[in-house]
Amino acid sequence: MSSNPQVHNRPTSAAEMMDQMNAETAKLYAWIRTQANSPAQRAWFAETDGSGAGQLAKGRVAANQLKMQPHRWRWSEISPYLFKIAEIARNAEIKPIETTDRQGILLTNPGLGGRLQITNTIRCAIAIYNPADLAPAHIHSPNASRTILSDKGGYTNVEGERCDCRRGDIVFTPNGTWHDHGNEDQDPMIWIDTLDWPLIEYLDCVWVDQTYENPMGGNSKSQPMVHQDGHSARLYGNGGLKPVFQSNQRGWGQGMSPMFHFRGDDVRAALKRLSSEKGDPFEGIKFQFVNPVTGKPVYPTLDYSAQLLRPGEELQWKRETCSTYALILQGKGFSEIGGERYDWTENDVMAIPNFLWRRHVNTGNEDAIIYTVSDKSLLENIGQYRSQGKAKDGTIVQIVQ
Ligand SMILES: [Fe+2]
Repeated sequence: MSSNPQVHNRPTSAAEMMDQMNAETAKLYAWIRTQANSPAQRAWFAETDGSGAGQLAKGRVAANQLKMQPHRWRWSEISPYLFKIAEIARNAEIKPIETTDRQGILLTNPGLGGRLQITNTIRCAIAIYNPADLAPAHIHSPNASRTILSDKGGYTNVEGERCDCRRGDIVFTPNGTWHDHGNEDQDPMIWIDTLDWPLIEYLDCVWVDQTYENPMGGNSKSQPMVHQDGHSARLYGNGGLKPVFQSNQRGWGQGMSPMFHFRGDDVRAALKRLSSEKGDPFEGIKFQFVNPVTGKPVYPTLDYSAQLLRPGEELQWKRETCSTYALILQGKGFSEIGGERYDWTENDVMAIPNFLWRRHVNTGNEDAIIYTVSDKSLLENIGQYRSQGKAKDGTIVQIVQ
């Protein structure tokens, strides 16, 4: 028998005494602080050896914060399910698209507990549209886009602009723009939906309106075509020439790009034209998709880029405070993220967490093209964007942009 009466579950420290009270305050949805205010992850900023594997910190505070992990989704593993659900949908009496709005596969980051998000702030879904499928006109507060994987087939109507889709195109539907989608081709069509939905949801700011009233009357759920295919490029695709004879505000969103449709062919040609340049040691040849009126990113929240790695090119290590997902549009190679190697080929998708060291390597005989979407815009706007690179001698360098 112990001679010390304090061992009989009697609290011995202030923290233990307060923790016992927490059993009572929990009923009041309140927690008495018994731990330091620690971040969920260890301090990568202080880590300089390149491991940066993103270990979670311990304790109640950290354990209740979900954090994204690096991951790769192979097209060879995901795409068979896309074609299977398209077949089920073709043979269904009630099309799934009529009950779920969309037909597709959401990529769920393994670190985020099954939430519908590929990064901390971004939702990513691979959608398939059968011939004659139609997604009715609607409008919402999250910003969105479609990155087209099929060679041809689908369309999106944004605020009356008909955008016929081809592989590598990105069609932007900024917040506050009416948009509808469909497939008038003979074959299924596949694209990737990207949204800042998780971020806007966190801010309790999501709204969606499906009650489109067609100004032409009738029951049509699709917007009438006001501007023909190519309208965006005719207005804004003239390199440094801004139209000033009409308003450049399209839709309700503030600071959004009025250029809705970027052509994959144009992006590839532009990258190719610059492929003999030296390029950036951490990014290769890279373009940012910008609002042509302001020169700023297309969205105040999301940053879209396209980069080209020449055959055999090995980028150097870089890390950023933003979270990113990457789509391999062309080529084959591998990336190292947080100490893990991920081989990739066409249409593979990778999640790259905040501040993990990463580098991309093109191992193929042709150019590799990678599209990335990140929340860099958001972090810049709140003064939190920072990036570092690792020089060949291992020293850490601050990257300005
Ligand atoms: Fe939408």
